[in-house]
Amino acid sequence: MRTLLELAGLKKTHGRSVILDGVDLTVAEGQKIALIGRNGAGKSTLIRILLGEEEADAGEVRAFPTLRLGAVSQHETIPEGVTGFAYLEKKTGREPWACAKMGAQFGLHRAHLEAPASTLSGGYQMRLKLTAMLLMDPNLLVLDEPVNYLDLPTLLLLERFLKTYRGAFIVTSHDRAFLNAVADRTAEIERGKLTSSPEKVDTYLLRKAEARAFVLRTNKKIQKEREHIQEFVDRFRYKASKAKQVQSRIKKLSKMANVDVESLLPTARIAIPSPLVTHGPALHVQDLEIGYGQRVIASDIAFDLQRGEHVALLGGNGMGKSTLLKTLSGVLPPISGTAKWWHKAEIGYYAQHTEAALKPEDTVMEHLAHSAPPSTRQEDLLKMAGDFLFREDDLEKRVQVLSGGERARLCLAGLLLSPHNVLLLDEPTNHLDAETSESLAKALQEYPGTIVFVSHSQSFIKALATRIFEAREGKVRQYPGTYDEYLADLGAAMEEDVHGAENESEPSTAAEAEARRHAQTILKEKRRRQQKIEERMKVLDREKSEILAYYFENPTEYAPEKYARLKELDEELARLEKEWYALLGDAGA
Ligand SMILES: Nc1ncnc2c1ncn2[C@@H]1O[C@H](COP(=O)(O)OP(=O)(O)OP(=O)(O)O)[C@@H](O)[C@H]1O
Ligand SMILES: [Mg+2]
Repeated sequence: MRTLLELAGLKKTHGRSVILDGVDLTVAEGQKIALIGRNGAGKSTLIRILLGEEEADAGEVRAFPTLRLGAVSQHETIPEGVTGFAYLEKKTGREPWACAKMGAQFGLHRAHLEAPASTLSGGYQMRLKLTAMLLMDPNLLVLDEPVNYLDLPTLLLLERFLKTYRGAFIVTSHDRAFLNAVADRTAEIERGKLTSSPEKVDTYLLRKAEARAFVLRTNKKIQKEREHIQEFVDRFRYKASKAKQVQSRIKKLSKMANVDVESLLPTARIAIPSPLVTHGPALHVQDLEIGYGQRVIASDIAFDLQRGEHVALLGGNGMGKSTLLKTLSGVLPPISGTAKWWHKAEIGYYAQHTEAALKPEDTVMEHLAHSAPPSTRQEDLLKMAGDFLFREDDLEKRVQVLSGGERARLCLAGLLLSPHNVLLLDEPTNHLDAETSESLAKALQEYPGTIVFVSHSQSFIKALATRIFEAREGKVRQYPGTYDEYLADLGAAMEEDVHGAENESEPSTAAEAEARRHAQTILKEKRRRQQKIEERMKVLDREKSEILAYYFENPTEYAPEKYARLKELDEELARLEKEWYALLGDAGA
């Protein structure tokens, strides 16, 4: 296996905080690496350095000549009016059939590729970008949290693709299920150091936890033995007869040291202020049509929620999940119809793109102070900040330097500073590390208020949802099954979609080839028939010439049966000749 890339001794610091403290990593052909680490551990920083988008303070990135890097830019906008085909061809220089074939792997049909790309939903635009990246034939893909910018169907397609992909990749994600499905190596950044290991994320984390537990047990044993020895020493210290034993035990004591074990990293302790919630109806939605001005996103929406229900709202990108949450929160007026909360509803709304709610210039503390009700005490602010792992120096950090997960945590902290009995959460776990997500899921499970949430995190949905709604094709309906059943349905539909697109991807050539094959079969059949006729005619001709020869030699003989036969032969020969010519004409057409 050839080496593609080597990172050696990478260092990066910001002020007093050391992000990368001597990171080494070698990536060889075909290695499938999951890059993990807590929020703010430095994953995105490492990836930006690797892609040459940011400089390290020290160390080296060595790219071998064999390396062909592939990356997707989430922020690149596809120009107006450009079709999918044109975009792919311009970007990659590949022929349309190659573009269609690769696109098919991501469920892109001809119709998608022939349409102006800017009219496609976000999910399909990402599929186009993924297709473009792969058409350039990279041998190392770098994907920073694809789970956050792909919708569930596209994510399933990417997962399906990466599982069988022959090249190497480095992917960061906080979705363990996704990482376990695609990667067979783990690289973890913790406290500035990178540890890599040729095992799946789950195995790696389990082994790490076991190793830690073993060390802790050993330390406990050592501690016990020390106490035991100390006791002996204290008891017999002044007994001359035991002096030697005491000495040797003191020596032993001095050698018994605990094995160093790092304390676990702190985890967010999310405590949601518990509202007083009585039983009863929470929300009545009737004839609701949602969208923006003239643009209807979904209509005919009708459902009722009881207080305390936890509803997961699922469906592909662009199907109106965020629009529905916005409408339910009152941020967006309905086009028509009603969505009415009970009179005591206090709604807290967490928008999908947290960036919009944050001012880049604000510090962490300033943001919290602005988000809380004016009467909030300073110590409550500090407590909330601490629960979300913002401490000391962090409190003075400006929003613009925070990592994706840190921003998400800050937004959640800000939201939870006010009391709510309804929470509308749009992708709350995006960017959060697994520990924080888990902590959030636990807190929300206990939450007695009503929740409507959009999420792509499988474990989060499983932990929290008591009902499942699906937004699809302009409708929002309750899904009648469990989340697992929903996933199985979606997977089956995905496979069908890809097969459809694959069959379509060589439509002209495949259809033509089929037609050609068909025509050739017919032609062959005709040739064979003509040959049969020719053979038959030869036989008949011979018979005819024999009869003629007979008459020639015996000009006076009448031989009526021979004469009749001659007539028969002439007729049949004429018929065969006609047929022979007919076949020739058809075959030529
Ligand atoms: N200019 C800066 N000044 C101070 N700190 C910074 C600056 N730029 C980045 N940081 C800090 O560097 C740390 C690493 O950020 P990075 O985006 O690499 O984390 P990450 O591992 O990708 O996290 P996440 O899982 O949240 O995406 C964060 O704590 C961030 O706040
Ligand atoms: Mg990141």
